[in-house]
Amino acid sequence: MHMHKFEKIWLTFGIGCLVIFLSVVGVSAFYLGNKPASCLTTINSEKVDQTKPFDKPGLHKVEGKEWDYELVFVASTFSYNPAQVKLPLGAKVKVIATTKDVIHGFEMAGTNINMMLEPGYVSEYTTTFDKTGEYLVVCNEYCGSGHHLMSAKIEVVK
Ligand code: CUA
Repeated sequence: MHMHKFEKIWLTFGIGCLVIFLSVVGVSAFYLGNKPASCLTTINSEKVDQTKPFDKPGLHKVEGKEWDYELVFVASTFSYNPAQVKLPLGAKVKVIATTKDVIHGFEMAGTNINMMLEPGYVSEYTTTFDKTGEYLVVCNEYCGSGHHLMSAKIEVVK
């Protein structure tokens, strides 16, 4: 009986270690998952239209934040909403984007903005527009037959 009890302790200890080990591995895998670095927030991709801030795509002036504007984009096959935006020169803008269907790209020529929009994730990038002109947003992830048609235009004006 004595030996039996001893074995039981070791068995319990062994299982305990295994559980801890698996938890650590599981938790690490969860946190180090295949999320792109710019994606911090998750979203239900089937309810994008009802989820803030994507219920109101477009440019919004904000107060009390480190940026002056939030520019909200919803991508879907094969367009961006909004398709055209006008920005005042010098505006510090947080671009917030997501996709309603498949993976799309969001590359803004002439800026550092180059994001991958994945279903279920919100991509964000904050930048200051200090040059007037037109910036073209294009999709750089192949998303289907209309991939090459996807674009939006950002106009920075004085
Ligand atoms: Cu969207 Cu390619």
